Amino acid sequence: MKKLVFVGCGGIAEYHLGNMLGYKADFLDKHGIELAGFCDIIPERAQAFVDKVGSGKAYTDYRTMYDEIQPNIAFICIPPYCHGELDLETFRRGIHAYVEKPVALDLDLAGEILDVIRRNNVITAVGFQCRYGRVSDLARQFCAEHRVAFVDMTRMGGIPGTFWWQKKELSGGQIVEQTIHNFDIVRYALGDPIEVCTFGTRGFVGNVPDYDTEDLTTTIVRFENGALGTFSTGCYAEGPGCCENKIVFSAKDCRLDYHLLDKVVLYDSSAKEEEGASVVKGDGRMRGSNEGVVTKGEGDTGSIAEQTFLKAVLTGDPSQIRSPYSDGIKSLAFTLACNESMAKGGVVRVRTF
Ligand SMILES: NC(=O)c1ccc[n+]([C@@H]2O[C@H](COP(=O)([O-])OP(=O)(O)OC[C@H]3O[C@@H](n4cnc5c(N)ncnc54)[C@H](O)[C@@H]3O)[C@@H](O)[C@H]2O)c1
Repeated sequence: MKKLVFVGCGGIAEYHLGNMLGYKADFLDKHGIELAGFCDIIPERAQAFVDKVGSGKAYTDYRTMYDEIQPNIAFICIPPYCHGELDLETFRRGIHAYVEKPVALDLDLAGEILDVIRRNNVITAVGFQCRYGRVSDLARQFCAEHRVAFVDMTRMGGIPGTFWWQKKELSGGQIVEQTIHNFDIVRYALGDPIEVCTFGTRGFVGNVPDYDTEDLTTTIVRFENGALGTFSTGCYAEGPGCCENKIVFSAKDCRLDYHLLDKVVLYDSSAKEEEGASVVKGDGRMRGSNEGVVTKGEGDTGSIAEQTFLKAVLTGDPSQIRSPYSDGIKSLAFTLACNESMAKGGVVRVRTF
């Protein structure tokens, strides 16, 4: 029997628990995984999890929970600013953990946590569930088969409801907390960045109490393999007409448009050049006339990410985990380099791990 606990019983924990209750009989019970403990500093939240599951015990202190339950597995679902001693203690105790992104707000701290993970030989996964599934496989395959010169990522959205999100000191800001998913997918498909230069702007978001982060950022990225990228992320959207969530991977005679979790559209070399007086080959206006080949994703991939991690713990083989802590820290480094560039001005090298 393996005992699984939750640390943090807020929004994303509810999502994981909801998934788990969906596959409890077919997966958790079958593999002897018990939902044993739920910890939140807000007692009602932990109790609500016990009520939902119909078993397990609620706690307000993770150490007490760890002492009493002696869990094998933890889902760490706390806000970005809360990482630190909690993670260190989890891994010192040899508990395998699925850690929600971003894994911390400070790279020295994340590096220290990584050292403890390595010393204690625990299995980890970071909550980059978008890496799993068909559309991410296709993006990675596209980048392996074509020499991608340019990546253009755009993600515009609104402001999440949690109190800590709009305070940059607590969340890290939009790039670190939210659009890190998009930065991570580009890393997964194309490879690692070397340096970034980010501009941020404010003044488009109004009437949000305690709001003190950028409304929009644009980053220029240089990748190890020579490609360049522009990444723009904003949280000023107030209506669906504004929103966009797309990564374009562009190679010499083809491109892939990746719509997060939803679909990819391949515009390949079979596209016919558009005919007509307005198109002059070689002047930069050459473009294909086809609609592209659409492949739909399977939708939400959270359950795949969770089960991949749980299987790794059950078998002791972490090879199928697409984002262990040792990799998740690199996406954190990418996004924190953008913050540093905004703060200092100019180009910042991305720290390597
Ligand atoms: N992977 C994804 O797609 C995804 C989606 C949403 C959120 N997240 C991430 O999940 C994390 C949590 O986000 P959320 O929306 O669930 O936040 P939330 O505020 O809804 O929930 C966090 C919970 O953690 C609790 N908590 C804080 N410190 C604690 C401690 N020491 N011990 C026990 N409980 C503690 C809080 O009381 C709160 O209930 C964030 O890092 C966020 O970026 C990931």
